[in-house]
Amino acid sequence: MQIHSSILDLRAALKTRSRIVFVPTMGNLHDGHISLMTQARAHGDTVVASIFVNRLQFGPNEDFDKYPRTFQADCDKLAAAGVDVLFAPTEADLYPEPQEYTVEPPDIQNILDGEFRPGHFRGVATVVLKLFNIVQPQVALFGKKDYQQLMVIRNMARQLALPIQIIGGETVRADDGLALSSRNGYLSATERTEAPRLHRLLVQIRDSLRAGNTAYAELERAATAELGQAGWKTDYVAVRQQSDLKPPSGGKQALVVLAASRLGNTRLIDNIEV
Ligand code: PAJ
Repeated sequence: MQIHSSILDLRAALKTRSRIVFVPTMGNLHDGHISLMTQARAHGDTVVASIFVNRLQFGPNEDFDKYPRTFQADCDKLAAAGVDVLFAPTEADLYPEPQEYTVEPPDIQNILDGEFRPGHFRGVATVVLKLFNIVQPQVALFGKKDYQQLMVIRNMARQLALPIQIIGGETVRADDGLALSSRNGYLSATERTEAPRLHRLLVQIRDSLRAGNTAYAELERAATAELGQAGWKTDYVAVRQQSDLKPPSGGKQALVVLAASRLGNTRLIDNIEV
């Protein structure tokens, strides 16, 4: 696996490559990331991954400084997964001057996670567009674990006519249902035992919706209450339309249930399609 940190070196290395498939990450890789790398192989000839902890998408009181950085272990996993090229820029490589031109996503950036993480999706869209311009992939993969992020990127690619196919990968979970996440490492042993409750509740809501329940607000309220009883502090549990993440407007709209809740100091997100 080739590793490049400078934009110029990466561009030179990719110049002669055909059909580039790209998987951007912030590192501290787990099997969720690796499943995207493995799927990437099927979509092109050159698999490019990136590792960059993007300051722009973290709020002032968020975990940018303590975000886990495990570069050597990450490189070993990427090489074992058959990744051809890793782009791992420093902040000086990617942001040599303050990033004043940014991508401003529409209203979707202010709902759900965007409501609780102001500026987050602006930071994500900006770094992803910049990485796309550097790597120039034909295909890029993102996990459904970050459902709203996938939608922001998909919509950006479509509306700005980026010549890139965006593919969503299924969420990889631990045996007890907890969605794999770099932030799971923050959980204490007791919290780790409690954490799968989030997924269990989403499964219950999905099953109830499938059975025809349309009392969305009541489902959201009951789940929030159960989480509260178990010591969680919930940002949202929300039944939404898959197409635009707005509340269900009736009819045969495909739905998705999304949640974000804090266990101790760790904020976990998850979702399930209905
Ligand atoms: P990061 O959290 O490192 O995630 C990188 C990619 O892995 C994202 O597309 C994410 O949705 C996916 N992913 C994470 N956990 C997953 C799981 N359990 N199953 C399947 N896929 C999973 O998301 C980011 O980084 C950043 O916002 C980024 C897009 C790199 C921009 O900075």
